Amino acid sequence: SRVAVLGGGTSPEHDVSLRSAAAVADALTAAGHDPVAMTIGRDGVWADGGGPLGRTPAASLAAGVGLLAGCDVVFPVLHGAPGEDGAIASLADLAALPVVGCPALGGAIAMDKHATKAVAAALGIGVADGVLLLPGDPVPQVPTPVVVKPTTAGSSFGVSVVRDPADLAPAVALARTAGGTVLVESYVRGREVQLAVVERRDGSLTVPPPVEYGVAEGEVFDTSRKYDGTAVVRFPAAVDEPVLAALREAAVRLFRALGCGGLARFDFFVTDDGFVLNEVNTMPGMTPQSGFPRMCAAGGLDLPGLVDELVAVALL
Ligand code: DAL
Ligand code: MG
Repeated sequence: SRVAVLGGGTSPEHDVSLRSAAAVADALTAAGHDPVAMTIGRDGVWADGGGPLGRTPAASLAAGVGLLAGCDVVFPVLHGAPGEDGAIASLADLAALPVVGCPALGGAIAMDKHATKAVAAALGIGVADGVLLLPGDPVPQVPTPVVVKPTTAGSSFGVSVVRDPADLAPAVALARTAGGTVLVESYVRGREVQLAVVERRDGSLTVPPPVEYGVAEGEVFDTSRKYDGTAVVRFPAAVDEPVLAALREAAVRLFRALGCGGLARFDFFVTDDGFVLNEVNTMPGMTPQSGFPRMCAAGGLDLPGLVDELVAVALL
């Protein structure tokens, strides 16, 4: 099929998205499809291989949708918002074009950390204790350590781990700069275990072997460690079979309850007393270094096989 592959975007994850989109386009070619690479610039201007499609985002969008309409299916490989929040799925819906991955509503819910926690809690899946702060709410008196995060911003933007109570107010102020509500959650000490879920053309969901991120024995794991190159990746994750079975069931139930489609990655913290959901990515990183394609490959689905399956599901 002719597949429009969208990468880039205005989120801080622009560069990762370009690398994910390049990997997806190569895999589509390897699977016998015809990828049409399109990008959204940091300034929001859409471009194709020939350059920007207009002077402003709005002007370029009209031409961009015209190009999408010449394809059989739209494959948005955008990380963060707008894009991973269902924006492209909405655009495809309005243009009556098939789209790979999460439908608009599921993408929007999964982008909101508080809404996602509410869905998980309703399924009986553990979530971190926390307080939701609306604009103007006072800084809460809570025992540290806590994690402070904007409800909707992705990419760890505005996220702080607070150990000293004196740092709480500045951390909340930082998180508020993302513009929405803020979550203050008790810090979960656990191993981060990530699960991939892939929707198959027969309607079933596949959960390949999970990956685990952590740091060397005896050290404390926090958000910054994950991205500074000092994190240890254990693959497949060393998780006992009963916990693994419970994680797999939680991931599959969340996929259905959130209204995900095609693919999603569910990130959990596994602790001594069970596990809690950390976050959901409806367009996980697809670079050669990313966990999602590695998990899928270990489960028997290499990247060409994965993108072929996702295109087939979108065209059902
Ligand atoms: N948001 C990045 C790309 C990930 O979770 O894989
Ligand atoms: Mg994310």
